[in-house]
Amino acid sequence: MKKLLVFGGTLFVGRHMVEAAIRAGHEVTIFNRGKTNPDLFPEIEKLKGDRDGGLSSLTGRRFDAVLDVNGYVPRIVRDSAELLKDLVDHYIFISTGAVYQKPARVGYDESSPVETVEDEASEDVRAHYGALKVLCEQQIEHAFPDRTLVMRLGLVCGPYDESDRTTYWVSRVAQGGEMLAPGEPDQPIQVVDARDLADFAMLALEKKFTGVYNCTGQSLTWEQWFNTFKQVSDSDASFTRIYDREFLRNELPNPTRPYGAYPLFMAESMGHWWTANSDRAQALGLNYRSMTDTAKDIFEWDKTRPIDEQRMSGLTSEEEQMLLRKWHERK
Ligand SMILES: NC(=O)c1ccc[n+]([C@@H]2O[C@H](COP(=O)([O-])OP(=O)(O)OC[C@H]3O[C@@H](n4cnc5c(N)ncnc54)[C@H](OP(=O)(O)O)[C@@H]3O)[C@@H](O)[C@H]2O)c1
Repeated sequence: MKKLLVFGGTLFVGRHMVEAAIRAGHEVTIFNRGKTNPDLFPEIEKLKGDRDGGLSSLTGRRFDAVLDVNGYVPRIVRDSAELLKDLVDHYIFISTGAVYQKPARVGYDESSPVETVEDEASEDVRAHYGALKVLCEQQIEHAFPDRTLVMRLGLVCGPYDESDRTTYWVSRVAQGGEMLAPGEPDQPIQVVDARDLADFAMLALEKKFTGVYNCTGQSLTWEQWFNTFKQVSDSDASFTRIYDREFLRNELPNPTRPYGAYPLFMAESMGHWWTANSDRAQALGLNYRSMTDTAKDIFEWDKTRPIDEQRMSGLTSEEEQMLLRKWHERK
């Protein structure tokens, strides 16, 4: 049993990690502002505070390990690292595959070049997400030398994922009928279930893993992906493949959802983004449940959401119908 401090822990990735830590019998403390899902986890200690300048509830506290899920700005990450460096043995920092330079080469791994930002004091996370995560990783490695594990996550999916990037496709396939499917059937896609990441984080905690690890998903093709979703929801969906990017761009120029109208259909500038190599983490014990199990759980979770909840990505049915009609007229 470890005394574990989690930065964050109540939205999606961190929430699954906290659930896994409680299941594993660790003594879990979460630190956040108490705004996101404040009623979750009544059985554990909750420290209220703000990572940006509001760390006083952590003063003098000792933990075996930290699981830092919500570090984005190097200055803010440095502040908590400085406060905790002599009070914590092991630090797990949740980073991202977005640290790698684009266009990605096939099978890029932990040795591949990472993003940089000219002004390292920048706090513009939207513009420099990957580069700032690299600098956050460095802050932790500096404060906890040989005691840091960095998990560079690929695109994460699963219940509680409010970005809808995977959920949109699962739920659209389930609705059935003719649907727009971007991408050629044999194009790869790589998503990882948040619960598999949580299991790996728990193993890392127990074994005190250190170093930098890609934690991206297993490689599937869009064809395998859609067919899995179809089977899970027993759907009659038929896929009209539109991989003419210009057509998609021109016909739907201003999609309003934050994560776009065709989630996970990557821009050419990303190169071979969906081919990241996670062999090192897999060798240590990162395992993947089947996409069938993941899709089933996403499907069930999605059904629990309010019907009128704003979706963060995907097409509205009117947009999809319009695109399909124009596509057929064009041919
Ligand atoms: N989703 C993906 O596909 C993906 C891909 C690659 C990497 N990642 C990484 O996964 C992590 C994101 O996970 P998540 O958002 O799902 O994690 P989470 O830990 O489940 O949720 C975010 C937490 O941060 C807390 N928080 C926000 N602002 C705060 C502040 N100023 N001070 C203290 N606490 C604060 C929120 O609670 P309060 O609002 O109550 O404070 C909430 O508990 C990031 O490190 C991201 O880079 C995600």
